[in-house]
Amino acid sequence: MVSPVAADPAKLRPNDPCWCGSGQKFKRCHKVATDRVQRGRVSPMRTVPAEIERPPYAADGSRSVRGDDPVKSPDVIERMRRTGVAAAEVLAEVGAAIAPGVTTDELDRLCHEACIARGGYPSPLNYGGFPKSLCTSVNEVICHGIPDDRPLRDGDIVNLDVTLYREGVHGDTNATWCVGTVDERSRTLVRVTAESLARGIAAVRPGRPLSDIGRAIQTHAEGEGFAVVRAFIGHGIGEVFHGDLQVLHYYDPRNSLVMKPGMVFTIEPMIAMGDWRHRLWDDDWTAVTADGRRTAQFEHTLVVTDDGADILTLRPDGQWSGDTGTPNPA
Ligand code: MF3
Ligand code: CO
Ligand code: CO
Repeated sequence: MVSPVAADPAKLRPNDPCWCGSGQKFKRCHKVATDRVQRGRVSPMRTVPAEIERPPYAADGSRSVRGDDPVKSPDVIERMRRTGVAAAEVLAEVGAAIAPGVTTDELDRLCHEACIARGGYPSPLNYGGFPKSLCTSVNEVICHGIPDDRPLRDGDIVNLDVTLYREGVHGDTNATWCVGTVDERSRTLVRVTAESLARGIAAVRPGRPLSDIGRAIQTHAEGEGFAVVRAFIGHGIGEVFHGDLQVLHYYDPRNSLVMKPGMVFTIEPMIAMGDWRHRLWDDDWTAVTADGRRTAQFEHTLVVTDDGADILTLRPDGQWSGDTGTPNPA
């Protein structure tokens, strides 16, 4: 018999029946994990065959140079379309390998090989000294997680961020997956984050300021009780990985640049279950939430058209990767 008095969630053990009366175990229903991700061991840097064209930073571990035009020529946009679709294929391929027990290092290896198999260079590799070909961000890791020997666990959420360099241009896209059986609030977080990106993309319109995008994202995410991470933003992209153009994921009237046809940039909201403030691990890459609560992220690269946006990182089947709740939230 279900007790008429709700049990205190703080006193429930993982295998107790959930307080909500679903009849499921607490750990399978409303329990939210509170243990933090630990640093693992990072394997040696992988190599790229000599015949693959490399971005300039591959040799010296530098970052993008400044001064790029956010509006790209039709030729650059055509190349970015092909590179973007290939990046989306890599993201889907690596995502298909996600399962409890699989290490993020194994996902990095799959990404590295999938990029090379398509004749491309995995853009993260040696970008500002980043040691791997993929960013893997688990649970409270907001972004820029470094793949290591930590096996994914049942109940985790994990973001894979793939960027591919081919035909002299970058395509940048990411998605978040649930690993095995995930608690309900985390599943909602992942779905709402995908929806927030879709709302941001729907706000793209020539003649309107970039701040429309952040407003659309913030309104949706906060309306569902979540918060928008401030420290990491969308960016111009093309021949350089990170161009000068900045896309805030929250409303700030100073993000006032007016969108024009041919502008190319990413939108990549990171949505937090609790506090949006972050800390950096001493590896100088891994960004985690200050309160240790989870975040999710989705990212597309897109071009502004005459009446909206064209997503350059859609898969050939037009669907989004990750646990979006629907095949295409846009
Ligand atoms: N792909 C990330 C972004 O969306 C950037 C990763 S930089 C790296 O902008 F060095 F960490 F790979
Ligand atoms: Co990006
Ligand atoms: Co990215």
